[in-house]
Amino acid sequence: MIFTILTLFPAIFESPLNESLIKKARDKGLLEFNIVNIRDFTTDIHHTADDAPFGGGAGMVMKVEPVHYAMEQVRKEHAQPHFVLLTPHGRRFDQHVAARLSHMPHLALLCGRYEGVDERIHSLVDDEVSIGDYVLAGGETAALVVVDAVSRLVPGVLGNEASPVDESFCDGLLEYPQYTRPREFMDMQVPDALLSGNHEEIRKWRRKESLKRTILRRPDLMERFQPTREDEIMIRQVVGEME
Ligand code: ADE
Repeated sequence: MIFTILTLFPAIFESPLNESLIKKARDKGLLEFNIVNIRDFTTDIHHTADDAPFGGGAGMVMKVEPVHYAMEQVRKEHAQPHFVLLTPHGRRFDQHVAARLSHMPHLALLCGRYEGVDERIHSLVDDEVSIGDYVLAGGETAALVVVDAVSRLVPGVLGNEASPVDESFCDGLLEYPQYTRPREFMDMQVPDALLSGNHEEIRKWRRKESLKRTILRRPDLMERFQPTREDEIMIRQVVGEME
């Protein structure tokens, strides 16, 4: 999968895209990154990428022309870019959006900066995404969040293909608690079910813990969750234990 990142601050991406999982996936040829400095596409002598807002007011606005020229260049160099603007006004990013974006052959993330972007930039992109209801100084950190969540869904990137299926949000629930050695630490024990070696007992314990955790921490997720018969019985048990 190809990621293009269009930014005024390319140095921000140097270390995060050269470590750990992403580094390994790049080495294997599974992911390719293309960092485009929008400032290279400014047309004036001062390389101006922002300007004062028409109508007045505080702050600067990211200009449309350099973004347009940078996008044209991306289209020339790599096929089928799907352009996504990172902005607090975008659609909320979640695991479903990550899964959808992971099927794109080429994801081009446009990082907004300054107090905002010229409204005409919105009409140039295919999609707009926000990573949450807070305002960042720019789209760069949001782009890194998107790259992280999307790239680990690209086949082969995790190495272990089973793990993305089993984790939080995949079936609308939070993930069950995990433990590793030692069995006991400061009087805290690993639950017996996990030590039983009985696969069915372990599966049931994990499912019930997933339900319990979601009910306690993210009741909003339960509103959309579609339980099986077994889930319904476990939910009644969990609620009973909480009373
Ligand atoms: N740029 C500034 N804030 C943002 C947010 N919450 N998500 C995506 N891009 C942003």
